[in-house]
Amino acid sequence: MKHNFGAGPCILPQEVFKEAADAVVNFNGLSILEISHRSADFIKVMEEARELVRKALAVPEGYTILFLQGGASLGFTITALNMMRDSKKAGYINTGTWAKGAISESEAIGIGTNIFASSEDRNFCYIPKEYNIPTDVDYIHYTSNNTIFGTQFKSIPVTSSPLVCDMSSDIFAQKVDVSKFDLIYAGAQKNLGPAGSTLYIVKDDILGKSTSEFMPKYLNLKNHAAKDSMMNTPPVFSIYTAMLNLRHLIKNGGVEKAEQRNLAKAELLYNEIDSNPLFKGAADVADRSTMNATFLLNNDSLKDEFDKMWNGANIIGLKGHRSVGGYRASMYNALTIDSVKVLVDLMNEFTRKNG
Ligand SMILES: Cc1ncc(COP(=O)(O)O)c(C=O)c1O
Repeated sequence: MKHNFGAGPCILPQEVFKEAADAVVNFNGLSILEISHRSADFIKVMEEARELVRKALAVPEGYTILFLQGGASLGFTITALNMMRDSKKAGYINTGTWAKGAISESEAIGIGTNIFASSEDRNFCYIPKEYNIPTDVDYIHYTSNNTIFGTQFKSIPVTSSPLVCDMSSDIFAQKVDVSKFDLIYAGAQKNLGPAGSTLYIVKDDILGKSTSEFMPKYLNLKNHAAKDSMMNTPPVFSIYTAMLNLRHLIKNGGVEKAEQRNLAKAELLYNEIDSNPLFKGAADVADRSTMNATFLLNNDSLKDEFDKMWNGANIIGLKGHRSVGGYRASMYNALTIDSVKVLVDLMNEFTRKNG
């Protein structure tokens, strides 16, 4: 058995893989890959997927759920275009690579960005806490979990402006008060399903209010809402598998239980990082992510030895991102605590040999 700590695309529960695989061969007599997205069978899938998102996150009335394409990267542009209002300014919190991506895309379409908080001074190893949120902006944007740097917001920024969040790497990992947001977006390929679909949870009030003169049809969320995410061919397989995964999530206690499991996994690994003399955490303790734990060796000369050990133990995807170095253990919903125990035991054994 392999233990997949990769940052994404990531593992899904084995049952979900199996059910999805079965549907590739036989989904009501055809392959899920060949059915029409206009067929009654697929419309049912889309409806159930939407309903399960609503249920899992307790999405209140007045919000539309969309499954689009283009990943969170197109989401950077789509959100900025749809949230642009008269001031043509937006407030951004810069917590790393993906936040920067969102900033540069909004600038590319002519929004003036006010980066009122940033953790760039310490290579994004923390979440900024003391800042004045601007009020003269069309919206505020932040990234709830910083996949590369291993930091995560523990509370929602307080603002009277419309709030937009990139939740790509921690959606469905814990409870979230959707009513605080005007727009949430997330690439599917962490806790939701296979790459190919992007989830948008959109407050209906924001639809059709953009002041952007540039508004291609595909980028206007109002058009997708009017067509129930079927304006063009949706990524059928990705949405079907996401639907199976959401069923699995709800059957296993929903986000509430997922959050407890995620906290237990994170505690186990961070305790090891903190107590093992050969390792140190990369992110500030208070801001550590439950999804992506970043850590470093205290002594780089032991790198080859450690790499050999984890590579030989069926552990996958532990290499850190080049912007941080060291290691990153991604512990998305489907990673079991047993896999984390394997890593923790290995770190212990490594220290016994080399400490
Ligand atoms: C937080 C976050 N935002 C955005 C992205 C980019 O997502 P995509 O590859 O779906 O465009 C990623 C990718 O890992 C991410 O982790």
